[in-house]
Parts: sequence; C-alpha cells; structure tokens
Amino acid sequence: MTRNLIKSAAAVLVAFACAGCSGNKGTGVVLLPEEAFVKTVDGMYTGLYTISNDNGMTLQLTNYGARIVALWVPSADGGFKDVVWGYDSIDAYLNASDKYSGPVVGRYGNRINDGRFTLDGKEYRLTVNENGNQLHGGAGGFSAKVWNAEQFTDEDGNQAVRMTWLSEDGEEGYPGNLKISVTYTITSENELVLDYEASTDKPTVLNPTSHVYYNLHGTSAKSTDTHLMTIYADSFTPTDAELIPTGEIAPVEGTPMDFRTSTAIGARIETPDFEPLKLGKGYDHNWVLDKTSDGTHSGTWIAAELFEPETGIIMKIYTDQPGLQFYAGQGMDGKEVGKRGEIHNVRSGIALETQNFPDAPNHEDFPSAVLRPGETYTQHSVYAFSLK
Ligand code: GAL
Repeated sequence: MTRNLIKSAAAVLVAFACAGCSGNKGTGVVLLPEEAFVKTVDGMYTGLYTISNDNGMTLQLTNYGARIVALWVPSADGGFKDVVWGYDSIDAYLNASDKYSGPVVGRYGNRINDGRFTLDGKEYRLTVNENGNQLHGGAGGFSAKVWNAEQFTDEDGNQAVRMTWLSEDGEEGYPGNLKISVTYTITSENELVLDYEASTDKPTVLNPTSHVYYNLHGTSAKSTDTHLMTIYADSFTPTDAELIPTGEIAPVEGTPMDFRTSTAIGARIETPDFEPLKLGKGYDHNWVLDKTSDGTHSGTWIAAELFEPETGIIMKIYTDQPGLQFYAGQGMDGKEVGKRGEIHNVRSGIALETQNFPDAPNHEDFPSAVLRPGETYTQHSVYAFSLK
C-alpha cells in the first residue's frame, strides 16, 4: 500500500511537470488529449506522455503497461501518419479484448509451455492464460501494470520517457524481485529507441518485448498485406498447434517463411498445405535472426525492414536479441474500435517483437533467458523510420 501511494505521488508529479512540454509537432499530427488517460488503476495514476523531435516525429505513451499509444512519422506526401494501433482513452485500453496493443509484455514475452519451467533444479509454476500455457507473462503481467513514468531530455538532447516497474517475487509465478526499466527515446534521425534494463534478487527468467501493432498506411482501415517485408533470418522455430516451439530450427529456404528478399506479406500468407501457416492461421512465428549488420547501429543487427509503397514509409528494426516474432494480426475480428473510430480489422496491424525464442526456459539449446542476481539484463532495439 505504502509503495503504491509513493508511486501514485510520483506519477502525479510527473504528470504536472510535463503538462505542455511535448515539443514540436509535425503538420497533421493530432495528439490525443492527456485528460483521456488520467485515471486511478490499482491505486496508481495513469497518464499520457508525449515526446517528439525537431522533425515532428511524435510518440505518445501511457504508463498503463508502459504502452505506446500513438506514433506519428513523416509520410511521402509531406504529412505525418500514426503508424500504430491504439485507443483514444485509458478506459478503452482497460476494456479492450486484445490486451496487447502497444505495451511492454513480460516477464516472458510469448509462450511458456504448460506454464512451468525448471531452474537450478526447482520447478516454478506460472499463471496460465491460454490453453494451459502462459502467454506474455500472464494476465497480470507487465502489460497490465501501471508503471512509474519519468519524462526527460537525454544527454544528446533527445526527448525520452523512462518507465519502471518492480515486479515482486512470485508475480505471475516468477521467482525474484525484478526491477525493470524501459526507456523510450525519439532521436533526431527519426528513430524510436527502446532500452531495457533489469536486475533480480533471485535467479529468474526474463524476455520482455514491445508488442505494438504497426500499420504503415497510418490507418487500420487498410490491410497490411500490401506491406513489403524483409526478415534477416535463414531459419525459424516451428511450433505445435498451441504455438509452442517444437524445438526444431527449420530453414526458411523454399517456404512462405522466406522473407530474405522483400516480399508482400499477403503474397504467401494463405499458402495451402503449409503446416506452420495452418497452425498459426497465418504468420505467427519466431524467426532466428542472422545477426548481420548493415553497418549502422553498432551493438545491434538488422532484424527486419517493412515498407508500404502507398505512404512511402520504411521501418527498419535493429536489435541485439536473437529472435523476432512476426504476428500478422489474424486474430482481430473487426469488432474493436480504435483511435479515430477506426476498426481493428483482420491483418490490419502487425506485431514485430524483438525477443528471445518462445519457451526458451524449456529448451536447453535455445538461447538462455536466465537472469541471476548481480547480472544486468539489457536490450537495445531501434525502430528507424525513413521514406522512399
Ligand atoms: C503475439 C502472439 C499471438 C497473439 C498476440 C496477442 O505475440 O504471437 O499469437 O497471442 O501476441 O494477441
């Protein structure tokens, strides 16, 4: 309780300190009003945070789930497009049927088989929220928490928001008090940068990721099937019918999973008789990144490039993570009404999640997701926007 009160007070201070400090806005950028995001959830205040660069690229975040709400980037017509799904109020987020529009998910992004894993000889039982498995850290995971938020200007003059959360020992079944921060920065190069940092007081597992539905048309009224996708990966991790990895690392060569050359998402997504696409009802898989650099963004490799010819918007993703989950939004049913009254239609928003492999705690030959006391987990992922 005391902890919550302190957190609430901190959130209020930040909210007041930042009223009106949102910087330059590009032509055509329509900001959501801060009032629509002020609420008390679990005894803590939620708010809306707005940061931008001198080019007008603008990010809006709420601390409910450390979540991206809007991201306005330049488009080829000289205006700006909001390239992420979202809702126009905190109430809409609380009532949404898909809880994963924009947040940081964890402790473990994607699935853990049967909601259990063994670490140092001890079995841990997690909460389960999908087919007896755990998805995205459980129903009460990071995406459902009200994080502390601090808005600041970094040493390079970029506007940033740092979200922090103390995930207590036992939260959703995970061991250890885990302190995590995720810092969102907008650079002068039109990049959205996410820096994660975490530490624990007991051995645990961790795989946080950003779960944003992107649509480079700037509206969920239009399908993302037209987006041209490149994924820098020679292989992927096939799954069973519950989307739990079988443990196999399969080559993409000669399959509809091969995005090594730029290909429209819709071109092969309905390929008949290709088992992984049948199981996923489309793309919903983890690609094993090649870890090759394009000479930019040191300390990372290029994971993917997405391009929408209609708007000319390119999004390149750089990361230091081994995997990328590409989910094509086939689970949406067109019933959710998002920002601007736009419907979230089937395949009108795609998630590209930089991550460790799903269910890695149960696969010895997958990269380790273990975090021990004294170690610091870090992740650096960059979403770089440009025009063609
Ligand atoms: C993705 C996952 C999908 C779906 C989605 C949330 O990361 O791969 O299967 O669960 O999150 O709706």
